[in-house]
Amino acid sequence: MKRIYFAFGIVATALIFSYCSTHKKVAEVTPVAAVKTTFQSDILSVVTTSCTPCHVPSAGGKKKPYDNFSNVKADIDDIIHRISLNPTDRGFMPMRGTEKLPDSVIAKFVKWKADGMLEN
Ligand code: HEC
Repeated sequence: MKRIYFAFGIVATALIFSYCSTHKKVAEVTPVAAVKTTFQSDILSVVTTSCTPCHVPSAGGKKKPYDNFSNVKADIDDIIHRISLNPTDRGFMPMRGTEKLPDSVIAKFVKWKADGMLEN
């Protein structure tokens, strides 16, 4: 009888250890680090492509400069509001033409704000 208990003990221990090792493998998978949006790498290029020349003084723009970190940071709510409007709405930006920015570009401004409006 003792031998049977002993055998059970070994089997149970083996099962517990094999469970632990498979469990560990699952826990070792590391999540992909979330990349933060920054003014220099994500926002500036949009401004110099889509808000030029009006908001880019070096291109001859006379409107509020948005190739400028502090101005974009200060006006982020108004910017998100205006680029989210429909082209026929009053205050819609970018003004030129009637094309609305792609959703993925609008999302960059939204994410930049959510990420804490980093410069670099
Ligand atoms: C063709 C010129 C033109 C382009 C391109 C343009 N804007 Fe403007 N923007 C204007 C003018 C003119 C005004 C002032 C009139 C008004 O407030 O609607 C203005 C005003 C604004 C304001 C209000 C600023 C303030 O002084 O209070 C915001 C915010 C803005 N634009 C965002 C943008 C963004 C973001 C883009 C690019 C995605 C853009 N604009 C592209 C001409 C332009």
